[in-house]
Amino acid sequence: MADLEGLRVTCFESRMASEMIGLVERMGGSARSAPAMRELPAPVGPNTRAFAEQLIAGQFDIVVFLTGVGAGALMSLIEPYYPRPTVIEALSKTVSVVRGPKPLAVLRGWHVKPTLQAGEPNTWREVLEVLVKAGPLTGKRIAIQEYGEPNLALVEALEAHGAEVAPVPVYTWALPEDLEPLREAIRALCDGRTEVVAFTSAQQARNVLQVAADMGVENGLREALKGTVIGSIGPTASAALRQLGLGVDFEPDRTRMGHLVRGLARSATTLLRRKRASLEVGIDTSRAGRLELIWPADECGATTDPLHDSAFLRACRREKTEYTPIWLMRQAGRYQRAYREIRSKVSFLEMCKRPDLAAEVTVMAVEQLGVDAAIIFSDILLIVEPMGVGLSYQEGHGPMMARPVRTSQDVDNLPGIEPVESLACVFEAIRMARRALHPAVPLIGFCGAPFTIASYLIEGRSSRDFRQTKTFMYRDPGAWYALMDRLVCDHAKYLNAQIDAGVQAVQLFDSWVGCLNEADYREFVMPHMHALIHAIKPGVPIIHFGTNTATILKAIKQAGGDVIGLDWRVDLAEAWQELGHDVAVQGNFDPVVLFATPARIRKQAQVILDQAAGRPGHIFNLGHGILPDTPVDHVIALVDGVHDLSRR
Ligand code: CP3
Repeated sequence: MADLEGLRVTCFESRMASEMIGLVERMGGSARSAPAMRELPAPVGPNTRAFAEQLIAGQFDIVVFLTGVGAGALMSLIEPYYPRPTVIEALSKTVSVVRGPKPLAVLRGWHVKPTLQAGEPNTWREVLEVLVKAGPLTGKRIAIQEYGEPNLALVEALEAHGAEVAPVPVYTWALPEDLEPLREAIRALCDGRTEVVAFTSAQQARNVLQVAADMGVENGLREALKGTVIGSIGPTASAALRQLGLGVDFEPDRTRMGHLVRGLARSATTLLRRKRASLEVGIDTSRAGRLELIWPADECGATTDPLHDSAFLRACRREKTEYTPIWLMRQAGRYQRAYREIRSKVSFLEMCKRPDLAAEVTVMAVEQLGVDAAIIFSDILLIVEPMGVGLSYQEGHGPMMARPVRTSQDVDNLPGIEPVESLACVFEAIRMARRALHPAVPLIGFCGAPFTIASYLIEGRSSRDFRQTKTFMYRDPGAWYALMDRLVCDHAKYLNAQIDAGVQAVQLFDSWVGCLNEADYREFVMPHMHALIHAIKPGVPIIHFGTNTATILKAIKQAGGDVIGLDWRVDLAEAWQELGHDVAVQGNFDPVVLFATPARIRKQAQVILDQAAGRPGHIFNLGHGILPDTPVDHVIALVDGVHDLSRR
């Protein structure tokens, strides 16, 4: 159920209370407005006065405006002391930065053209990015107009670049004048007459607990919230909620009320059932994360084996499904805020090696997007690390090997590895993700195909023409076969251990094999792919994926696999015809179309669904992985669109 039907939702928003209520009601929820704070202009304290004085004296190099309301409020705070034209003139002489369209509009109203504008998705990271791009920040004095909570992350990042930062507070917070609606909301929560609460600022959380304490019901409220879905507008509010010992069940990818309410509409019913089931078995839901909450026993529907009967696995077996299942390559990645947040603290390799983090982002992607399968978060190159090639991931360059394999001697010298041991972190991540995933959502394991892995080992990095790889292959076929054999053996062990750990399907990524012609594919790759595919434990569907493979599709099918992955360059109907309908296909939406409008996305999804013509055995996917910066909403629109348009 993708709405708030039957749910009582309490909103603590003040200034935009009516908008919030409207959003909840449009989603079918029964909304209660309980404003939990009042904004008061900050008294013109030393910070604001110093800001105005120093601005006029030309002592700031840069002024950052984070919000429109805050920029306006700042002006009204200093205007009684310094004439507006003087302030505006000083601003015009300083580098000014606006975060997004709202402060931009306010500055335009003052006839100030901001020097820099930070773009979508309007977080502090984009502010940092435009500033760093504009020139060195060392020794620069930067004033930041604050709004509510100080943005410590931005301050710290600027200081790390050598800047001197002066925060300028604009507001202070107080309790609302009329406390009765809030008190009534707290009573309703304590009596179990509320299913969902929505916090739209950090201060609301503190005020709600304070008012509850004054009423003598703080503990009762905390207990009640353990069985209530808690939505938080963004990272700052979430941090405050967690600090107060309240869990956060849902935070949207973008800090917007619309996103919060729509996201709650998608997830609240399930979250509520999970939270209450978890509470019943004694799990502390105020602390439990995504990996600890359990699923209610009756969640998996009518079937005895919900995984086996899932739309995804049925499609792998070319059985009829009620709708076309969809998942997306790289569905956990940098386009998600929660991913970037985790990734800002650890390197990519570390993230892959931490089973808790890998499982977390695996499950998060499924919950955020509503896709029909999970894929374990990892990378195809993890397996080569113990071969001593010096693997690293460099920002903007992708994977690199410090000591690539260039000669037959290098092949002989590659140390043997034991994937079942060296990749134990992956198996643990699989077990954790499997436990946390919905009992009807299959988990996909994967590995690189020998050709694609060999190409990284030989080139030492991604390549355009694969010159070194192909030269190696043509010049020294013996060494090539030795390397491929070796990779087949390691990868067969790796995949079978993933199956033992709990994946329901596996995908082989032969991402770069499309650089070969058919004859070379048949000679240098196909026998090895065939050997690998036939070494995988039976009963687990195998997806065989490559890009640029239009000319070698038949050979790829002969190498094996239950499902053939298609990239976006081919017409799905023609490719399937050529492959034969005795094999399932996966694909093939162009990932770049996700940057277009939701209407265009839906249209293109329909084109692909039409090409598949409702034939059993189509799994919807992209033609290649999701690109960084893809708008999350568009990805959700694609998933919803495919489910909608294909329902039979
Ligand atoms: O699909 C998923 O959600 C599972 C995760 C997954 C990743 N890589 C995560 C990842 C999978 C299945 C892969 C496979 C992979 N890795 C392939 C085959 C698929 C493809 O895209 O063709 C290849 C060629 C690699 C090697 C690799 N790893 C590349 C080319 C890159 C990109 C580097 C970059 O800067 O984008 C990586 C890193 C990588 N693997 C990231 C992710 C989410 C980005 C890491 C980050 O910076 O956070």
